[in-house]
Amino acid sequence: MSNKRGKFIVLEGLDGSGKTTQINKLERHLKNKGLEVIVTKEPQADRPIGQLLRRVLTQDEKTDLRVAASLFAADRLDHLTRRDGIIDALEKGAYVLCDRYYFSNYAYNMVDVDLDWIMSLNREAVKIGKPDLHIYVDVPADIALSRVTNRGETELFENLERLQRVHDNYDVLIDLLAASEQIFRVDGTRDSHIVFAKIRDFIDSEIIGN
Ligand code: TMP
Repeated sequence: MSNKRGKFIVLEGLDGSGKTTQINKLERHLKNKGLEVIVTKEPQADRPIGQLLRRVLTQDEKTDLRVAASLFAADRLDHLTRRDGIIDALEKGAYVLCDRYYFSNYAYNMVDVDLDWIMSLNREAVKIGKPDLHIYVDVPADIALSRVTNRGETELFENLERLQRVHDNYDVLIDLLAASEQIFRVDGTRDSHIVFAKIRDFIDSEIIGN
């Protein structure tokens, strides 16, 4: 086991904000530096709670949205604590890049569910798995939605009214949590290589420190 804890970096943003493109670029950049990198996402595709959530998102399964909000938090705790999960990877010294984390739970689910309650469900994740950095890829709801619609089928939260509210919620949360969390906001409407240059420069100077 490496004696140096790895770094935990989360990508946040609306569906269609370009998170996946940026994670892939970041993975390549960090690997080129010889770092061990694990790329992961929430909800988890290979675990029972995440699979149930995917059925909720595709609307094959109907649940009360409080149930969905708490399942996202449960999937997160499983993601942290499972064998070869986030905590194991960090203890081995890896860089963990995660597509969505508790800011998604707050921003998406506070539309239907009390934010304090969602935060209480995530208290353990904040305690044992606070990210070193949240990168928020900021794209307006209409642009995000048009990118998602071009991909084909849309899921539960992928409509303009919801994404506009989620976008507003991210703004509120970034202000609310600026003192307790490290957050880097980047304009995701620019060309993907320009967006990446900003993310790379921030990570090189603030997270890797070279
Ligand atoms: P994605 O896998 O395409 O990113 O879709 C996940 C969807 O679930 C997306 O619409 C955001 C939503 N979501 C929540 O509502 N709460 C959460 O805690 C997480 C992780 C995702």
